[in-house]
Amino acid sequence: MRLTILGGGGFRVPLVYGALLTDRAEGRVTDVVLHDVDPDRLSAISRVLAEQATGVADAPRVTTTTDVDDALRGADFVFSAIRVGGLQGRADDERVALAEGVLGQETVGAGGIAYGLRTVPVAVDIAARVARLAPDAWVINFTNPAGLVTEAMSRHLGDRVIGICDSPVGLGRRIARVLGADPGRAWIDYVGLNHLGWVRGLRVEGRDELPRLLADPGLLGSFEEGRLFGAEWLRSLGAIPNEYLHYYYYNRETVRAYREAELTRGAFLREQQARFYDEARDAATAALAAWNRTRAEREATYMAENREAAGAGEREADDLSGGYEKVALALMRAIARDERTTLILNVRNRSTLSVLDAEAVIEVPCLVDANGAHPVAVDPLPGHATGLVCAVKAVEREVLAAAESGSYATAVKAFALHPLVDSVTVARRLVDGYRAVHPGLAYLR
Ligand code: G6P
Ligand code: MN
Repeated sequence: MRLTILGGGGFRVPLVYGALLTDRAEGRVTDVVLHDVDPDRLSAISRVLAEQATGVADAPRVTTTTDVDDALRGADFVFSAIRVGGLQGRADDERVALAEGVLGQETVGAGGIAYGLRTVPVAVDIAARVARLAPDAWVINFTNPAGLVTEAMSRHLGDRVIGICDSPVGLGRRIARVLGADPGRAWIDYVGLNHLGWVRGLRVEGRDELPRLLADPGLLGSFEEGRLFGAEWLRSLGAIPNEYLHYYYYNRETVRAYREAELTRGAFLREQQARFYDEARDAATAALAAWNRTRAEREATYMAENREAAGAGEREADDLSGGYEKVALALMRAIARDERTTLILNVRNRSTLSVLDAEAVIEVPCLVDANGAHPVAVDPLPGHATGLVCAVKAVEREVLAAAESGSYATAVKAFALHPLVDSVTVARRLVDGYRAVHPGLAYLR
């Protein structure tokens, strides 16, 4: 079975390869094709993968290419993990937004819109190529903003593209842990959009355990989201939000923390990753060790400004392992081998949330088997959450429309309608500011 990874020179590719190495079962991935626009990144990551495979019998064969069509032909699965504009683009997204006093995070608010406007045309081009060259392949989208990008690709690929994120599963795991429940056996009642969802219940043997957590300030203070949002606010909500909702509920504080930080997240990662790729190019360095060091630092500093703004302290050791690759591998196995499972994924709504149309991509628990991912029925969201979900989905639709038409006015509308952008004047300045720094936005006229 052949897996093609677009963005194959990306930093997190060794996580995926590491997960593949643990899979010994019949029907596993035997060939990995890495595609990247940058051959230097491909060779650096190839060195890491070769070290990972040392001593592993029948490790999946790795090949690399800079030709996207070659990479796609013959693929059974395609992981799309691209970063249009690179980390410099991410840092620019943050800088332009913060200069206007609004959030520049890569998936939330103005930064997410800028990144989406840049990424959607590229993702759509990839989707069209997959539809032509590998029509039976399944595409797993890792690229942020993941919900929006998955929706853009689904217009060409239908239900053959599925978006993934590890935040919901991480949240479910943490809640289960503090409640003393087995995360593998608990039902996590989660729904929303990517980076905009809420856990409303956690059922074990038919009983909802979440009220026990919400009633206990000690338990609430003992995990990441509890410390980020504060026990009182979680009790008011009656739910545990995805960590990315911290940018909404504490917007002023997070914008201030990001403005005061020495480096934004994008700028920090740009420098950190540049050091790694430099090191890994040098044949004298142990590439895997350098990668592990870099990764540990990246994990430890994840959402550091939010934790600082909330006084939440350091991340816990158990939360440092990420989990993207586990979600991706579980999804691929379920589809390829009909191993039925339940995963929280980004898929088309159908009739799951009645306030959205059938084509809107949402993040929801899905039953997965050889036929793909099927969203399960969930209770409706409360009014405050419905309001945010509908507002942000409307923004996403303007981004998709602007990417399709190239309309400047539609791009302004996307920014102006976002709940975290507080003025149409600011929205116009954001479009102008982003157009000035991103060649990839020259299409907006
Ligand atoms: C979480 C999010 C991802 C994000 C990742 C890395 O897992 O769900 O969407 O890509 O963190 O964030 P970072 O700031 O390290 O790039
Ligand atoms: Mn994510």
